[in-house]
Amino acid sequence: MTAEEFVARLDTDTQRLLRNLAPDDTLRPEVQGDLTVLNLLKVALKNEIEATEIAGRWLVTTDDIPVKLAFARQVGDEAKHYRMIAERLRALGFDGAGFDPLAKGYGPLFTYLMTLTTTVERVAAGQFTREAIAVVKNRQFIEFCEHAGDRETATMYRDVIEPDERYHHELGRSLLLRLAVTPEAQAAAAAAARKTLALADELQRAALTTAGIHHAPGC
Ligand SMILES: [Fe+2]
Ligand SMILES: [Fe+2]
Repeated sequence: MTAEEFVARLDTDTQRLLRNLAPDDTLRPEVQGDLTVLNLLKVALKNEIEATEIAGRWLVTTDDIPVKLAFARQVGDEAKHYRMIAERLRALGFDGAGFDPLAKGYGPLFTYLMTLTTTVERVAAGQFTREAIAVVKNRQFIEFCEHAGDRETATMYRDVIEPDERYHHELGRSLLLRLAVTPEAQAAAAAAARKTLALADELQRAALTTAGIHHAPGC
C-alpha cells in the first residue's frame, strides 16, 4: 500500500470508530449531578497538560526536524489552551491557584502513549488519532456549552481550540504521508492508532458510568 492509500484507510477506520464516541445520552445541560461546563473544563485542564507534556517529551526524543517542529508547535498550542481554559474557569468563579490536574497522576492514555518508541507510531497515535478524537469531542462540548447557555466557552472552543486541534491532526496526516511508507511502519502505525481509539472509547465509558461525565472536551 502507498502512504496515501494507507492514510486514507486509516482516516476511514478512525472516523468509523469515532462514531462510537458520540454519547448515547441526549444533551443534559440542565446540570444533573456534576455535569457542568465548569467541571468539564477542569477535565479539559488535565487533557491539555497531558497533551503539552506528551508533545514536549517527544520533541526532545526525535532527530527528525519536521517532526520536532510539529511537536514544538503542539507544545505551544496545548499550553495556550491550558492558560485560556484556566482563565475561563476563573471567570466562572473557580480559583485555580493550587489546583493540580495531575494530582491523581497521569491517565491511561498518557501512560500508553509514553510506551511508544517509534516516530511513526507517535505521530499516528498522538497526533493523527488523539487529535481526531479531540475534534469530535470538542464539537460535542461546544454544543453542550450552547445548550447550557455558555456562549463564551463555546466561542473559545469554536474559534481557537477546535481549529488548533484540527491543525494538529493535519500535522499528523502530513507526517504520516512521509513516514508510513513500509509495510512494517504501516502496521505499527495502524496498531498504535487502534489502541488509542480503544483506550479513548474505554475511558469515555468509564467516565460515563463512574462519574456521569459525557461531553468532556478533548485536546
Ligand atoms: Fe491538540
Ligand atoms: Fe489542546
